[in-house]
Amino acid sequence: MKKLAVLMILLSMSIVACGQGAERIKLPQPRYKGEASFEEALYARHSVRSYGCKGLILDEISQLLWAAQGKSQSGKRTAPSAHASYPIDVYLVVGKAEGLAGGLYKYDQPGHQLIKVKDGDLRHEFLVACRGQGQVLTAPVSIVLVCPERKDEMKFVYMEAGHIAENVYLQSTALNLGTVVIAGFDETKLNEFLGLTEGSQPLYVMPVGSESGGCKKCQGDECPK
Ligand SMILES: Cc1cc2nc3c(=O)[nH]c(=O)nc-3n(C[C@H](O)[C@H](O)[C@H](O)COP(=O)(O)O)c2cc1C
Repeated sequence: MKKLAVLMILLSMSIVACGQGAERIKLPQPRYKGEASFEEALYARHSVRSYGCKGLILDEISQLLWAAQGKSQSGKRTAPSAHASYPIDVYLVVGKAEGLAGGLYKYDQPGHQLIKVKDGDLRHEFLVACRGQGQVLTAPVSIVLVCPERKDEMKFVYMEAGHIAENVYLQSTALNLGTVVIAGFDETKLNEFLGLTEGSQPLYVMPVGSESGGCKKCQGDECPK
């Protein structure tokens, strides 16, 4: 009986630690009409590795996450998924954003909101996990796609990461922002950074920022706010 009581207490503590008490940031409603046509975005899409000093605003973050995994007209999601199983989680590393403190966040798709995982500007730590690819240090935010557990059909998961990434590329372009897919990261270190176990499979890192000739005079957290 005593053992059961201890178990119950531990269980309730772990529920709090797993996010019940975590800070939640409701994102603005995404727009379904933009200034650039689909064809213009497709034609202009290219990889961007050098970003301006400006932080992202919450509207832009909302739009990017919606493009990645938000709700579509059918009630499903903006990217297709085998058996509509949606095995991929979306994280956001924030260095500089208006209305959003630096930290690591998880995108909560049903609530179109962010759940804070870790506090602070973590971009230097993130840079190490990304094998020194400097784009993640100068970008104000980075999106991370990860499958938290091994699946029997991992090939479907890889395909789905491609769909999501292309949505993010096109949405970034339509917002006059730039991004690049990064797959050359250290899997173990990235899992540690995200607070995930070895069984989890990071898929893509996508730094996003304004494309304005780069933030040449300042680097990462030395940039003006
Ligand atoms: C699977 C995959 C992995 C990639 N990994 C990286 C990477 O680790 N770092 C990087 O800077 N670019 C990476 N890229 C981006 C490619 O270098 C880029 O798409 C390619 O040069 C074509 O340029 P474009 O995207 O401007 O058309 C990757 C692209 C793909 C499809």
